[in-house]
Amino acid sequence: MGEFSAAWLHLREPVDAASRARHLARATGEALGHAAWVHVLDLGAGTGSNTRYLAGYLPRRQRWILADADAALLGQVGDEMYRWATGCGYTATFTPEGLEVSHGAHQWDIRTRLGSLAALDDEELFAGQHLVTASALLDLVSRHWVEALAVRCHAQGALVHMALSYDGRIECSPADPDDGLVRTLVNEHQVTDKGFGPALGPSAASETARSLERLAYRVERHQSDWLLGPCDREMQEALVQGWASAAASIAPEHAGSIEAWATRRQRVIEAGTSSLVVGHEDLLAHPPRPPR
Ligand SMILES: C[S@@+](CC[C@H](N)C(=O)[O-])C[C@H]1O[C@@H](n2cnc3c(N)ncnc32)[C@H](O)[C@@H]1O
Repeated sequence: MGEFSAAWLHLREPVDAASRARHLARATGEALGHAAWVHVLDLGAGTGSNTRYLAGYLPRRQRWILADADAALLGQVGDEMYRWATGCGYTATFTPEGLEVSHGAHQWDIRTRLGSLAALDDEELFAGQHLVTASALLDLVSRHWVEALAVRCHAQGALVHMALSYDGRIECSPADPDDGLVRTLVNEHQVTDKGFGPALGPSAASETARSLERLAYRVERHQSDWLLGPCDREMQEALVQGWASAAASIAPEHAGSIEAWATRRQRVIEAGTSSLVVGHEDLLAHPPRPPR
């Protein structure tokens, strides 16, 4: 399973939803309460998991742009959103531009935008946005990128809601002598370039908060850890495999120990006795002047 395959995003979606700081989602909706139509930009949207989570917390009429560089993932947004909407009992209609969803007084207009966000050079993408949001994106980007993002959002007076930034914590139970080695190597891999310059990895939320606070944003932060138990077997297996491969790419000289670690962890997962905590953080930033 590739790092950003649709299958991986699908697997993590319910875990993400259960882990997110609900009070920050509610506060996001409250801060936007006055707008007739709320304009939202979801960066690195994948197949739309963040949109599906936040939509229910925001004011009734919403226009979303889901931006991503991966055509295959964006290509699944329509069907995934349609499935979500009809599963909730809403009415969903495909239009030439995207998807329209309605339910009573609620209306969602959902569109996608394909293109790399690495340079953040598309000023028009940010124009008129009340809320700029992303989930599971910030740890991939660089300090320079979050500084540029803060400037773009500030220029619009946009609220910023960034969910599920990995913070460097991995706790495995039962403990294994090589957990620390693998965690250290995974965190080294975290700060390698993912296409946006040297990645922030575990410092993503802190650096983003700093960039926004420098522009007089008021920032709220809250942990949104994944708490995975024996029932989350598939997710645990995918994580252990992903961590082992990231760690071995950083320290090939430890490949043997890493493989043995993954085999031991796989055994406890199969035995139904493994649990994992993966540290994440959510962030909500209020602009110095309220969104228009
Ligand atoms: C971890 S996934 C998160 C996806 C989605 N937000 C979610 O929570 O399911 C990271 C996303 O960033 C996107 N991405 C990576 N590099 C990108 C770039 N340079 N420009 C735009 N999107 C990018 C990937 O295609 C992927 O959809």
